[in-house]
Amino acid sequence: AKPVIIAPSILSADFARLGEEVAAVDQAGADWIHLDVMDGHFVPNITFGPPVIKAVRGASQKIFDCHLMIEPCDSYLEAFAEAGCDYITVHAEATKHLDRSLQAIRNLGKKAGVSLNPSTPEDVIAYVLDRLDLVLLMTVNPGFGGQAFIPSVVEKVRRVKAMIGDRDIHIEIDGGVTPETAPLVVEAGANVLVAGSAVFKGGTPEHYRANIAAIRAA
Ligand code: DX5
Ligand code: ZN
Repeated sequence: AKPVIIAPSILSADFARLGEEVAAVDQAGADWIHLDVMDGHFVPNITFGPPVIKAVRGASQKIFDCHLMIEPCDSYLEAFAEAGCDYITVHAEATKHLDRSLQAIRNLGKKAGVSLNPSTPEDVIAYVLDRLDLVLLMTVNPGFGGQAFIPSVVEKVRRVKAMIGDRDIHIEIDGGVTPETAPLVVEAGANVLVAGSAVFKGGTPEHYRANIAAIRAA
């Protein structure tokens, strides 16, 4: 099995000190930095876009894992690539031409991901498996941090794992990840865990270190 990667979502960080917060979770043991981009259209919340990502890019050398919750997405891919994202993940529900969106991301020289809402069947990725570097399975309805983990997605993780076979594709989980829920999805085949509130709770770098360690230990 692949080593487990922990990707703190800066959605739960102090936005007034975003650069420092990115550096703090980097030094606290984060493997990747997860960036939740929301447009107030695909999801009922608005966060930040390429200029903010570009501004914090210098705060960490870790992989920038960009989760686009925006519709449309194709017209913005280049801007996110130029802002310094390494992985760019689009929602299957937010693009009419998933194959085209994934090709566009790879053509920009970036790793391509697809995300599925909790209610979206995994079949939508069946014909794009060879264009994927990552599958992001939402374990909450996207839009907000701090929501409860939806347990029915654990079965979906198992199915996606089987579909992927021996391809080199990450399975990432996002939403409600805690030391209690992390083992359920890792056992099912997930290897990248996004965590927002579970990492940033407490609000100090010492808390971040302990919170990341607790998820890893679980
Ligand atoms: C939800 C975002 C998640 C969220 C996770 O729309 O994509 O990344 O911030 O937050 P927690 O870990 O608090 O559920
Ligand atoms: Zn996310």
